[in-house]
Amino acid sequence: MKVLVIGSGGREHSLVWKIAQSPQVTKIFCAPGNPGISEIAECINIESEQTKLLYEFAIKEKIDLTVVGPEAPLADGIVDNFSKNNLNVFGPNKDAAILETSKVFAKHLMRKHGIPTADFREFDEYEHARKYVLTKGAPVVVKADGLSKGKGVFVCETMNDALRAIDSIMKYKIFGNAGDKVIIEEHLTGEEVSILAFTDGRTIIPMESSQDHKTIYDGDKGPNTGGMGAYSPVPLMTEDLYHQVEREILVPTVHAMNREKKPYKGVLYVGLMITSYGPKVLEFNVRFGDPEAQVLLVRMKSDIVPIMLAAISEKLDTIDLEWYSQASVCVVITSGGYPGRYNKGKQITGLDSLKNQEGIHVFHAGTKSENGRIVTSGGRVLNVVACGDDIKEAQKNVYDAVSKISFEGAHYRKDIASKAIK
Ligand code: AMP
Ligand code: GLY
Repeated sequence: MKVLVIGSGGREHSLVWKIAQSPQVTKIFCAPGNPGISEIAECINIESEQTKLLYEFAIKEKIDLTVVGPEAPLADGIVDNFSKNNLNVFGPNKDAAILETSKVFAKHLMRKHGIPTADFREFDEYEHARKYVLTKGAPVVVKADGLSKGKGVFVCETMNDALRAIDSIMKYKIFGNAGDKVIIEEHLTGEEVSILAFTDGRTIIPMESSQDHKTIYDGDKGPNTGGMGAYSPVPLMTEDLYHQVEREILVPTVHAMNREKKPYKGVLYVGLMITSYGPKVLEFNVRFGDPEAQVLLVRMKSDIVPIMLAAISEKLDTIDLEWYSQASVCVVITSGGYPGRYNKGKQITGLDSLKNQEGIHVFHAGTKSENGRIVTSGGRVLNVVACGDDIKEAQKNVYDAVSKISFEGAHYRKDIASKAIK
């Protein structure tokens, strides 16, 4: 079986690594991939947004399964186009991807179907949004409606911060049309957990829990990033809480999408705040999270390929998803300066010393191969993942491994998974 994976980050490297273990798979392509991925798959020079070229490639190579990593091609309707032409593709279609592409849609869906989330108001007029904040006060959370590469959410401690956020989104249009509407919502407190599930629109198979670390500095300080690290499982997620999330959030969301005539297939990612009033939805994503995928896939015992095929053919009820009991921790190493400006082209050393080390995985993201060397080429550069009998051991193992890697300006958080150990 030939598989095509779309994307170039740590999430896609871990997907390719997992898919490569399937006995059904004979060949993996990745578009565009990265130097780490090129060790296990053939990387092709097509960007993930070039959906027409991807389609032509899949037809020409007779690809049996396409797996879409990032949200942009899903939002663009890659699944509709592939499946119309009888190509197996894992992910939601364009209609269903609206769960991530419009926060206004997601919030109204939750309100209508009684799915717990922060209270909110929607605005499409700048002056009205400002007035609301002036009467409502802070803290408050301001969100651009559309896709904004994970940067469209402003958690505002003061009224002035909130007014500035509204200016950025609605007046200065820093996210373009994605900021035509804003959501202003109640500020929730608690601990965040990511719950991902496979679904075919009827059956829902939740994965183990994981937790992302979004801010650049230790202690959850500094600006938000694409994700600085993760761990799995999350001790806070007791079995009772897990069932509550299934009953109150996962099942009603999949049913709601059916009732809205937007049946959902693929991975449903729910970002939750565990508040003192129970779990509430912060956001939906229509794909694997990054770096959540990295910590989940190294713990997944079952072959992922039959699961993806069953999700496509609506046979998930035949699947039994198994996990290794070991815990995993992922630490992301970034270029100095990220998420602001940063330099590229710094030589990375130490990668070879971690090759073939049991329980250690180095998933590439912003790397490039240059004259036989691996150099940095992005903000998030490498994802180091380690397993262990518990989170504490996995954390020790991951930081031992991270200390072997270096490049000029490298930065990483020193407290990934510490919350789980305290
Ligand atoms: P989102 O992309 O919607 O998950 O938002 C990014 C981050 O902003 C989340 O991971 C939270 O840390 C924070 N956030 C989003 N919504 C809220 C909220 N209603 N209350 C507090 N923090 C929030
Ligand atoms: N880790 C958050 C995301 O993938 O959107």
